[in-house]
Amino acid sequence: MLHFLSLLLLLSSFLPPSLSQPPKGLLINCGATVRSTIEGRDWVPDKDYISTGTSKTIKTPGLLQILSTVRSFPLSGRKFCYTVPAYRPGKYLIRTTYFYGGVNGDEVPPVFDQIVDGTFWSVVNTTDDYKRGLASYYEGVFTPTGRTMSVCLGVNTYTESDPFISRLEFIILGDSLYNSTDFKTYGLSLVARHSFGYDGFIIRYPDDQYDRFWEPFGEYNPIQSRARNVSVSGFWNLPPSKSFETKLTLPEPKALTFQWPTSSLPNSTYYIALYFAEDSDTSSGVSRVFNISINDVLFIRELNVIPDGVVVYSKQWPVAGPMTITLTPVSGSTLGPLINAGEIFDLVLLGGKTHTKDVIALERLRNSFQNPPLDWSGDPCLPRQYSWTGVTCSQGTRIRVVALNLTSMGLSGSLSPSIANLTALRDILLGNNSLSGPIPDLSPLKALATLHLEKNQLIGTIPPSLGNMDTLRELFLQENNLTGQVPNSLTGKPELDLRLSPGNSFSSPPPS
Ligand SMILES: *[C@@H]1O[C@H](CO)[C@@H](O)[C@H](O)[C@H]1NC(C)=O
Ligand SMILES: *[C@@H]1O[C@H](CO)[C@@H](O)[C@H](O)[C@H]1NC(C)=O
Ligand SMILES: *[C@@H]1O[C@H](CO)[C@@H](O)[C@H](O)[C@H]1NC(C)=O
Ligand SMILES: *[C@@H]1O[C@H](CO)[C@@H](O)[C@H](O)[C@H]1NC(C)=O
Ligand SMILES: *[C@@H]1O[C@H](CO)[C@@H](O)[C@H](O)[C@H]1NC(C)=O
Ligand SMILES: *[C@@H]1O[C@H](CO)[C@@H](O)[C@H](O)[C@H]1NC(C)=O
Ligand SMILES: *[C@@H]1O[C@H](CO)[C@@H](O)[C@H](O)[C@H]1NC(C)=O
Ligand SMILES: *[C@@H]1O[C@H](CO)[C@@H](O)[C@H](O)[C@H]1NC(C)=O
Ligand SMILES: *[C@@H]1O[C@H](CO)[C@@H](O)[C@H](O)[C@H]1NC(C)=O
Repeated sequence: MLHFLSLLLLLSSFLPPSLSQPPKGLLINCGATVRSTIEGRDWVPDKDYISTGTSKTIKTPGLLQILSTVRSFPLSGRKFCYTVPAYRPGKYLIRTTYFYGGVNGDEVPPVFDQIVDGTFWSVVNTTDDYKRGLASYYEGVFTPTGRTMSVCLGVNTYTESDPFISRLEFIILGDSLYNSTDFKTYGLSLVARHSFGYDGFIIRYPDDQYDRFWEPFGEYNPIQSRARNVSVSGFWNLPPSKSFETKLTLPEPKALTFQWPTSSLPNSTYYIALYFAEDSDTSSGVSRVFNISINDVLFIRELNVIPDGVVVYSKQWPVAGPMTITLTPVSGSTLGPLINAGEIFDLVLLGGKTHTKDVIALERLRNSFQNPPLDWSGDPCLPRQYSWTGVTCSQGTRIRVVALNLTSMGLSGSLSPSIANLTALRDILLGNNSLSGPIPDLSPLKALATLHLEKNQLIGTIPPSLGNMDTLRELFLQENNLTGQVPNSLTGKPELDLRLSPGNSFSSPPPS
């Protein structure tokens, strides 16, 4: 059974049109080394927001400046994240743009995943666009869950060469935009946004104050005359008034049927908003009233299109396969149906986030290593298939780090005391690296069962508190440069597998 949740109808009101200021946000030109101003907007280089990947230049002649650099990432990694400061409670339009330009040497672009914080956003497949010489863009609406937001590229089984990205935009949206969506549970991933009956260039800033892209759809069909201008400020989603200058319509009151979006949709639930404005003088007895159905299911009955405009939306509409929209005039309607614009987003169930205290502790630990694993960015545990190398997390809704295994990773640097803030840790395996400095106090780790620090260059004494951990079963400290006395509390525990030699120079001999 289909559930048609909250199908609402909103009439526009008479608010003054807002001034068109450039959208607020952050525009990142990936792989670029200098700032640039393009069409009056500032693009910054990406080095402050990412620590992996290499900058590459595309040689395609005549390419837009903004697409001429990319950042590319090694296929051997798992995920690569941009992390930007976020303002809460903001709502961000995130747009990623990809133009391959053959940077890998391969003829076809790689297919990979994109991720927002702990949420799998979508697959990035630019193959068809690239074949036609076009850049591909993806747009989503997400709210930050902390003081930063991350957008990551993920290597999947179908990824065959190095992932890359051309640009990354974060635009702060007004409060009222798409506000029927519960952004604590869902993100929106754009499927299509069209201005109907329009055939010009993509409508965007300054026509759209948030620089959303409204693509042309259908035969050019301009509005001939309009009794009153459409006041778009009355629409919570603030569509650009330019999108009301053209329409799809029929000259007489007959059913208008069209497939939109043109591609078949995966079985999912969608946010759908359709925009209409009457363009003739309806005071003289003519009327335009029609039913709207999607795949033969009634979406809204007897829509009376008015000159000020009207939006019809569903915040959760199930679709699987092709989507056909039918506008059927009701009897007595004297004019053909019309439609000006539409937006459809896939509802993306948010993946959650790792327990904040664990995230902070892991970030400090990462910063104390000189050469942390390349994928230690973004959310440590999520999405599940994209957890950080060596990090194992708990299942369920409260996501904690339960094990850390960085055995033989060639790590150098020291062990941050913040490791003791990962209070759900059961296993720490850091053997066979080049870690130096002392062993921090680990007494807050009440569940610690395994501590492998063998084959490093750790110095100082063994923290006596290790002897008081009843859960500890394995303590491997051999082949380090530890000194001092072995705490009495550690020796003579039959249940503890304690390894102290070779290496180390304790002042009393370790038990044989
Ligand atoms: C990417 O898109 C192309 C063209 O639509 C398709 O042939 C290919 O199977 C897709 N690749 C993946 C991994 O989905
Ligand atoms: C959405 O924004 C409009 C305009 O600010 C407001 O009237 C409405 O109550 C908001 N709806 C929700 C669900 O917050
Ligand atoms: C509608 O707006 C345009 C440009 O903003 C203006 O030239 C035109 O006179 C307006 N039309 C009406 C009927 O108000
Ligand atoms: C879409 O998915 C839902 C739930 O996963 C399932 O119940 C439904 O049958 C699917 N619809 C189609 C057309 O495959
Ligand atoms: C419009 O929808 C209503 C409600 O489902 C239905 O009774 C009516 O017959 C429909 N009209 C047309 C012309 O489809
Ligand atoms: C730790 O990681 C190493 C290297 O990846 C692996 O060989 C070993 O089995 C892992 N140990 C545990 C307990 O998971
Ligand atoms: C220790 O780590 C290095 C890589 O850093 C690896 O080559 C070596 O095989 C490891 N030794 C053991 C005993 O695992
Ligand atoms: C551990 O977390 C607390 C806050 O939860 C913080 O005050 C403290 O500085 C952290 N310790 C380390 C060593 O990072
Ligand atoms: C550190 O320990 C290693 C073996 O555990 C040993 O070879 C080395 O000489 C020691 N270095 C110092 C400075 O004690």
